[in-house]
Amino acid sequence: MINAKSVKFKNLFSVGNTFQEFDLKENSNLLVVGKSGHGKSTIIDAITFALFGRTYKDLNKGQLINSINKKNLVVEFEFNEYKVIRGISPNLFEIYKDGELIPQTGDVRDYQKNLEKNILNMNYKSFTQVVVLGSAAFMPFMKLQAAHRREVIEDLLDLHVFSKMSLLLKSKNDINKAELADINIKVQSLKSSIKTMNEMIEEQSINSNEEIQSIIAARDIKRDKTTALNNELKKLVEEEKELLKIKDSFPVSEGEVVDKILALNKKKTAIITKIDILKKTITFIDSNDDCPTCKQDITFEYKASIVEENNKSISELDLKIPKIDTNLTKCNNIFDEIKKSKDDISAIKSNTSVKKTMLNSMITTVEEMNERIDKLKNKVKSEVSTIKLDALKREITLENKKYDKHKRIAENYVNCQKILKDNGIKSVIINKYIPLLNQHINSYLEKFDMFVSFELDSSFNETIKSRHRDKFSYNSFSEGQKKRIDFSILLAMRDIAKMKNSVACNLLIIDELMDGLDVDNVDNLENILSEFDQTNTIIISHSEDIKNRQLFDKTIKAELVKNFTTYEEV
Ligand SMILES: Nc1ncnc2c1ncn2[C@@H]1O[C@H](COP(=O)(O)OP(=O)(O)OP(=O)(O)O)[C@@H](O)[C@H]1O
Ligand SMILES: [Mg+2]
Repeated sequence: MINAKSVKFKNLFSVGNTFQEFDLKENSNLLVVGKSGHGKSTIIDAITFALFGRTYKDLNKGQLINSINKKNLVVEFEFNEYKVIRGISPNLFEIYKDGELIPQTGDVRDYQKNLEKNILNMNYKSFTQVVVLGSAAFMPFMKLQAAHRREVIEDLLDLHVFSKMSLLLKSKNDINKAELADINIKVQSLKSSIKTMNEMIEEQSINSNEEIQSIIAARDIKRDKTTALNNELKKLVEEEKELLKIKDSFPVSEGEVVDKILALNKKKTAIITKIDILKKTITFIDSNDDCPTCKQDITFEYKASIVEENNKSISELDLKIPKIDTNLTKCNNIFDEIKKSKDDISAIKSNTSVKKTMLNSMITTVEEMNERIDKLKNKVKSEVSTIKLDALKREITLENKKYDKHKRIAENYVNCQKILKDNGIKSVIINKYIPLLNQHINSYLEKFDMFVSFELDSSFNETIKSRHRDKFSYNSFSEGQKKRIDFSILLAMRDIAKMKNSVACNLLIIDELMDGLDVDNVDNLENILSEFDQTNTIIISHSEDIKNRQLFDKTIKAELVKNFTTYEEV
C-alpha cells in the first residue's frame, strides 16, 4: 500500500524555480481550486512523473520543463519509507529508502522496473486506474481494450506474480532444455564410444577365444590320453597282482631249486667219475698180467672177477643217471618258470614306472593348459579396453539418470506453465474476484442512484442491464452516467485493492469529474468519500460552489501570477 507523504516540484509546466509542496500525510479531503490553466492538474502530473517518468498529460519530456526557466525540473515524491526524486535538465532519477540511496545496478529501465515491481507494486496504467479519476488524458476502465482491462485487473489482484513466475519458468525451461540437449549430445557420444569399444573388445576376445579354443582342444586330447593311460596303469597293477599270485604259488623257492640242481649235477658227476674209474680199472686189468708195483702175477680168475664186479657196478651206476636227468629236467623247468615269472613281474614294474612318469607329466601339462586358459579368460576381462568400457557404461548410466531427471523437470515445467497461463490459476483467481468486484461496482452504482445491473465477465466484457432496456452498453449512457459508472468502478477497484493489499494507495485524486455531476450526485459522492478512512482525497475543481461543501478539510488555490503558478491555502 502506497502511503503518500508529500510531493514537491519546481520548473514543471507553469511552476517556477521555487519548490511547491503538498503535504499528503493527513487523511484529509483536499480541494484544489483555481482558474483554468492555473496549474491545478499539475499536481497529478508531478506525482505520475515522479513515480513513472511520464505525466498524466502524456507529453514528451521536453514539454514538461518550464518554458521560461528551461532547466532544473525536479519532482520529489515521498511515500512509506521511500523518496523518489526525478528531474530533467539535468536528468535525475534517485530512489531513497530510509534516507539512503538505493544504488542503480543496471540501467535506468531496470531501476524503474524495480520501483514498479518491487516497491510500488503497480505500473502507470494501474496507478491511473485506481488513484486518478480525471478528465484530461484519463482513460476510463470501460474504454480500455479487454487486454488492458486484464492487465489492470491482474495488477489489482496481484496476479503479476504469476506472470513473473511464468517468465522465470520460461527462462528455467530454456536452461533445462539447453541442459537436456547437452546431455543428449553427451549420451549420443558415449553411445558411439561404447559401440566402438565393444567392437574392439569383441575383436580382442575373438583372438583370445581362438587361442583359448585351440588350447582347450589340445588339453582335451591330453586329458583323454591321461584317462587312457590311467586305465592302462590300473590294468598293469591288476596284472602284477596276478603274477605275484602265480609266483607265490610255486612250491619251492628259486634258491631251493638252484640248490637242488647243483646237488643233482654233483651227484651225476660223481656217478660218471665212478663209472670212469671202474672202466679204467677194467682196461688196466685187461692189459696187464702182473702188478707194476709189486710185480706179482694177476690171475685170470682174478681179472675176470674184477671185470665182472666192475661191470656190475657200472651197470648199476648207469641206471642212476637217467633218474638224475629226469629230476634235473624237472628242476630246470621249475627254475625256468620261476625266472619267467620274475622277469614278467619286473617287466610290468618297469612298464608301470614308465607309464606313471608319463601320466604325471601329462597331468602337469593338463594343469598348465588349464592355467593358461584361465589366464587368457581373465586377460580378456582385465584388458584396458574392458576397464574403459565399464567406465563408459557407468558414465552413460549417470548421464541417462540426469537426462531422466531433466526430462521430469521439463514435464513439470510444462504442467506449471499450463497452470501459469491466462486460463490457469490466474483465471481461477479472477473468476473468484470478479463477482466481488461486480458486487462492489453495483453497490456504488446504487449509491449514485443508478439502478442498473453491471456485470464484468471473466473475459472482462461488461453486460449492463437496465430495468426497461435489456441491451445496454457503456456508450449508451449519458456523460454524467458514464462518470458515475467510472467512479463506481474506480471505487470498487480500490476496495478490492485494499482487500488484496495490492495496487493500493491512500491517494484518490478526482480531477474535475465532480464538476460534471449534478448536485444530487455530488451529495452521493460526498457521502461515499466521507465513509472512507485512511484516504487522502484530492479533488480538483474550477467550480467555486464546491468550496463551501463540508467534505473538504483544506482548500488550496492555484494561481498563475506573472507566468508562474503558486499554491496558497485559502
Ligand atoms: N512547458 C511549459 N512551460 C510553462 N507553462 C506550461 C508548460 N506546459 C504547460 N504549461 C502551462 O501550465 C499550465 C498547466 O496547468 P494545468 O493543466 O495544471 O491547469 P488546470 O488548472 O488544471 O486547468 P484546467 O482547469 O483548464 O484543467 C497551463 O497554463 C499550461 O499552459
Ligand atoms: Mg486541469
